[in-house]
Amino acid sequence: MKIIQSCLIYILASLSTFVTYAADDLTFSELDKVVTTHLYLDLEVDFKAKQLKGFVEHSLEWKDKSSPQLIVDTRDLIINKVYEQSHGQWHPVNFELGKRDPVKGSPLTIFLSKPANKVRIYYHSTPQASGLQWLTPEQTAGKQHPFLFSQNQAIHARSWIPVQDSPSMRVTYNARIETSKDLLVVMSANNEPNTKRDGDYFFTMPQAIPPYLIAIGVGDLHFKAMSEQTGIYAESYILDASAEEFSDTQKMITASEALYGSYRWGRYDLLMLPPSFPFGGMENPRLSFITPTVVAGDKSLVSLIAHELAHSWSGNLVTNESWRDLWLNEGFTSYVENRIMEEVFGRDRAVMEQVLGVSSLYTDLADLSANDSILYLDLQGRDPDAAFSNVPYVKGQLFLMFLEERFGRERFDPFVLSYFNNFSFQSIGTEDFLAYLDKNLISKYPGIVKPEEVTEWVFAQGLPSTVPNPTSDTFTKVTGLSDKWLAGDLQLTELPTSNWTVHEWLFFINGLPRDLATASMAELDQQFKLTTSTNAEIAHAWYLLALNSGYHVVKPQLEQYMINIGRRKLIVPLYTKLAESNAGLAWAKKVYAKARPGYHPLAQGTVDGILNK
Ligand code: BES
Ligand code: ZN
Repeated sequence: MKIIQSCLIYILASLSTFVTYAADDLTFSELDKVVTTHLYLDLEVDFKAKQLKGFVEHSLEWKDKSSPQLIVDTRDLIINKVYEQSHGQWHPVNFELGKRDPVKGSPLTIFLSKPANKVRIYYHSTPQASGLQWLTPEQTAGKQHPFLFSQNQAIHARSWIPVQDSPSMRVTYNARIETSKDLLVVMSANNEPNTKRDGDYFFTMPQAIPPYLIAIGVGDLHFKAMSEQTGIYAESYILDASAEEFSDTQKMITASEALYGSYRWGRYDLLMLPPSFPFGGMENPRLSFITPTVVAGDKSLVSLIAHELAHSWSGNLVTNESWRDLWLNEGFTSYVENRIMEEVFGRDRAVMEQVLGVSSLYTDLADLSANDSILYLDLQGRDPDAAFSNVPYVKGQLFLMFLEERFGRERFDPFVLSYFNNFSFQSIGTEDFLAYLDKNLISKYPGIVKPEEVTEWVFAQGLPSTVPNPTSDTFTKVTGLSDKWLAGDLQLTELPTSNWTVHEWLFFINGLPRDLATASMAELDQQFKLTTSTNAEIAHAWYLLALNSGYHVVKPQLEQYMINIGRRKLIVPLYTKLAESNAGLAWAKKVYAKARPGYHPLAQGTVDGILNK
């Protein structure tokens, strides 16, 4: 046994020496030769043609002047003309759009006469841009005005801006955006709460950010302040409700600053997106993009705001240099999110959220390939969207919780603070983090964590034996009651549900046997009206259970849900479950025919893949 153990440790220790840390291979750009330091975007928003058109001006810094050639990433863009600047004059230059790679898009190679400081690319996007969703007025809540929003992460910036689309580089940017007079434009930049609505908007973003954080939203938007520093941009229908729901945002900022140092970005506003937004949230700097499905009326789902805010440190300040290192962004953010939740809402709620996260990780792990259970992800030429799972999020969070437990908060918290300060406004890889961790924690306090334990967390499959196991007393009570009901020893009316939180409901529903008898499902529904729940997470958990247990009563409401919501996390498991049976697949296809036109290109791609297998 001893021998086997030491062999294992040896293999693990050498694992890290075999790993080769590749540069970002999802970009065509040659960042070792030339890098853009600043962008100026001059674009017109054409809702009729579903196009952004105009030009982008790159300010360049040359590292290798021997062959003055600039390669930028594009996907489905039409390039009209390219100019270089010399002696203050613009001169046309030749360019070539390469063959379209299904994952990376097409390289645009620009042949310059010399290493110019500035290059202008005149172009327009096309309606199929993977990083944009164009909504017609009918597809919005207000029905009067169209809506446009971007979602650049991971590699969709290139579908609306010809750019070196890698998280390993950073740019500052300015923009001028023209649209119709009755619409407001916001960006991940200096939005001014009292901007005059005149169709002609100017932005500056003085902090350098990677291109996946450039963002735009256009619509019939209105602003409501929540505090001096925070506010909501939204269509009128949800403006007040959102300001109410997220009224703790300022407290969250204060809590995070106390732990991890000052918030570096000026304002922190939220943009409420249409329900077709394919994510829960997106951490666009100064302006997080938020799904309306978290406006539940009781602040039960606001950990999403804590999460997107946390990215202001992990992700936006210290950025993963390639999408292989996504866990540095999302694992740290999930950890920081939970620390913020603990500060603002107390330990019980924070632990409940840990437990719910861990159980979704276990659900994912059951279906994932062994390779995809590794923190330092091997994308193997795949689209990063296709490798998306709870692993970088929750396994990453658990790794940091493990370190926190071993070293204690008195040592771990200052370490995290110094990590953010040390690498602020830089992009780093797993290797940089490990070196910093070793120097400032592992070797600094010897004998607490073995280097091979760290190696196992980052490079080995599955979960290590040192995995923390958060437990919630509140949830243990729910399990006890649920078991009693399932055994017939308790009536549903005797369950103390009147003061259950949404978290307890989710834990209860997710803990029920997947093959619960239809009669029991009906009894639950009768008592608690779960089929018509207005909480998007509870409804999701219930519909999933209903599909598993064959409780078809939910179908009409489920159909509405799938048509109204385009958030992938909520709809993809439902489509996947339905696709397991022929009858389910046929029904799913029928619903999808109605739902698809309202979905974002990303969600369309994912669901197409599930239903056309
Ligand atoms: N940055 C992510 C969204 C993302 C990740 C987009 C990778 C594209 C590629 C965002 O911060 C996020 O994690 N959103 C989650 C929120 C949740 C974990 C609280 C989501 O959308 O569900
Ligand atoms: Zn995130």
